[in-house]
Amino acid sequence: MDKSKSSVAVYNQIATQYAKQFNRPSEHLGEFLRKLPKGGMVLDVGCGTGRDTGFIHSKGFKVVGFDLSREMLNVAKRDYPAIDFRLEDMRKIKLPAQSADGIVASCSLIHIPKKNVPALLRQFHKLLKPNGVLYIGFQAGRSREMFVDEPFKPGEKLFLNVISLPEITRLLKGTGFKVVKSYSRQPSSNQELNFTKLYLIAQRP
Ligand SMILES: C[S@@+](CC[C@H](N)C(=O)[O-])C[C@H]1O[C@@H](n2cnc3c(N)ncnc32)[C@H](O)[C@@H]1O
Repeated sequence: MDKSKSSVAVYNQIATQYAKQFNRPSEHLGEFLRKLPKGGMVLDVGCGTGRDTGFIHSKGFKVVGFDLSREMLNVAKRDYPAIDFRLEDMRKIKLPAQSADGIVASCSLIHIPKKNVPALLRQFHKLLKPNGVLYIGFQAGRSREMFVDEPFKPGEKLFLNVISLPEITRLLKGTGFKVVKSYSRQPSSNQELNFTKLYLIAQRP
């Protein structure tokens, strides 16, 4: 099975617990939104149970959430019925070029195999308008692919693409993005995977 889809199968089993545990918007998302035109269009890719999608919507932006997990999206639709959520693979988003002012990928690139990431970033670049902004949050460390136990369901394996800062910086630059901000922190609870968390804001010049 495609490694990304194997992780989606795990998310289908933990959607309710995930929504309860991770109920606050992703860190530094407010800063990302301040770089966008008021009321602009944002795509939340791998939106999960919609915590960021809901926050973005509450700030007056148009937003569409994309995820491949039916159960994560069911919770998102229950909690944010006014928002457009779509069951789509983030690697194949069906929207015209330059549809978006901003793209959010919070803790979702980590489930995409390394071989798919360059094309995915090219797609994000294409979907963004000139000066569009990309937010990425992910588990960072020595570059590798691995399987880890899902903290909510030990025994169920999640595929992880652990990305290093030099690696993502090179990939973003190679796609034509300029990294404008980066933040990092250590995990703050044992429900979080035990990696450094990295948050990047990049812009399409
Ligand atoms: C850790 S959750 C993050 C959810 C949300 N962005 C957040 O920050 O709370 C990862 C999400 O990525 C989704 N995902 C994994 N691979 C995907 C793919 N190829 N296309 C769309 N969504 C995907 C999973 O189903 C899951 O909901």
